[in-house]
Amino acid sequence: MQDRIKELLGEIEAFAISNKEELEQFRLRYIAKKGVVTALFDELKTVPAEEKRSVGQLLNQLKDAAMDKLKSKTAELEAAAMASAGKPLDLTLPPIPNELGTIHPLTQVWERIVEIFGRIGFNVEDGPEIESDWNNFTALNFPDNHPAREMQDTFFIDGKEILLRTHTSNVQIRLMHKQKPPIRSIMPGRVYRNEAISARAHCIFHQVEGLYVDKNVSFADLKQTLYHFAKELFGKDTQVRFRPSYFPFTEPSAEIDISCGLNRPGTCALCGGSKNICKGTGWVEIGGSGMVHPNVLENCGIDPEEFTGFAFGMGIERITMLKYQIRDLRLFTENDVQFLRQFETL
Ligand code: PHE
Repeated sequence: MQDRIKELLGEIEAFAISNKEELEQFRLRYIAKKGVVTALFDELKTVPAEEKRSVGQLLNQLKDAAMDKLKSKTAELEAAAMASAGKPLDLTLPPIPNELGTIHPLTQVWERIVEIFGRIGFNVEDGPEIESDWNNFTALNFPDNHPAREMQDTFFIDGKEILLRTHTSNVQIRLMHKQKPPIRSIMPGRVYRNEAISARAHCIFHQVEGLYVDKNVSFADLKQTLYHFAKELFGKDTQVRFRPSYFPFTEPSAEIDISCGLNRPGTCALCGGSKNICKGTGWVEIGGSGMVHPNVLENCGIDPEEFTGFAFGMGIERITMLKYQIRDLRLFTENDVQFLRQFETL
């Protein structure tokens, strides 16, 4: 019997197990109730008393060897199965957050402006941010050394001839040079002014210019266009106020104000009582406007006797602040995700 056990020990060691089926065969043959080892334990009764001890020990050794092999092979096969199937699913783990970006509020408002004007027949024109003095100033009827040039603190690039555009009005000039009336376009874009950064001003900001040139365009058309725009963007009760003003390239000229309380003129909802935006007046200036100056039309080869036009330029930051009740313009450029996440569009 001892020889048989020794033979079986060798057999167990040599038994090749490379899959589940072989593992099961191994179990059935050696470990199961009807397996070889159990049968040998039964046979132990018939062994002469003096050999019982040593045969018993050998038999236990055989049993342990079989069990050990079963255990280690089971673990080995499980590990291999897991590795090939990837990580096991743990349904108790918290979900991985789906981090979607959001569209910047300025971009959202920019797109909305394009949409509102698009519906009333304005297309979108673009122009460069690095501009010549001619397109930014001279063609717009800013005479040399005229104090109006100092209304806009300019960043010059190359002497006094090349500069960062101080407004989007440069695109008016470029457009009127390449296209004859009728012209009906808006021109959103980034502009630069050498100003101290505060809650109300920044050295880099955005404007949207509008230009309509055709026969018989009047100031009434300008007013109605901007009334329509304000009501579409801010709601039907929004108040718009035109204040006489001066720009070299428009005559007459008017500043455009929006009620700070939006639908409650005279109230100060946007500033929240701090008055740091409307200065307590209840009105916020969002841009300038007017009838295109005859000199500007002439500078671009358009006959002012035949055509008239209106133009406006508005600050996109200001408009966005009004729309979303944002009290500090610096928030737009700080990239604070807690601020930006509030403008989820989905
Ligand atoms: N370009 C002017 C500004 O930046 C705004 C404006 C545009 C005024 C068009 C009148 C007409 O202040």
